[in-house]
Amino acid sequence: KKLLLINGPNLNLLGTREPGIYGHMTLTDIENNLKAQATKEGFSLTVFQSNHEGALIDRIHQAKTDDMAGIVINPGAYTHTSVAIRDALAGVGIPFVEVHLSNVHKREAFRHHSFLSDLAVGVVCGLGWKGYGYALRFLAELPAD
Ligand code: DQA
Repeated sequence: KKLLLINGPNLNLLGTREPGIYGHMTLTDIENNLKAQATKEGFSLTVFQSNHEGALIDRIHQAKTDDMAGIVINPGAYTHTSVAIRDALAGVGIPFVEVHLSNVHKREAFRHHSFLSDLAVGVVCGLGWKGYGYALRFLAELPAD
């Protein structure tokens, strides 16, 4: 099963970015852990990070061409602003899980709304980097329609 992990803006700064909120692991550390999980659990994992809305949209479109079975996406701040990323996910129709490292509901009010959540299979937030792993495992175990 082919799964895609997408991280949006500022997540390349993980490890040094507000570690009290986002933890001390770098994105590379996290991706390496998830790749080890993929090998162990028998799914294929492609990872992508960009700070650019259009690049994220292009990657979502490509997921369709690449026949990805599921997407785990942490859109960063675009979660709260991007109708375009919402439309891209709706457009490809690939099941996705929205993940946030932090518990966005414990934070500023502007982080409480997501343009994606109602389209997602589910949402994981506040569980740190392990949230990605739980979401990937869920998608890996999802029966093909
Ligand atoms: C985030 C939460 C967002 O509100 C924030 O803009 C991020 C990271 C998280 O993983 O907790 O960049 O998506």
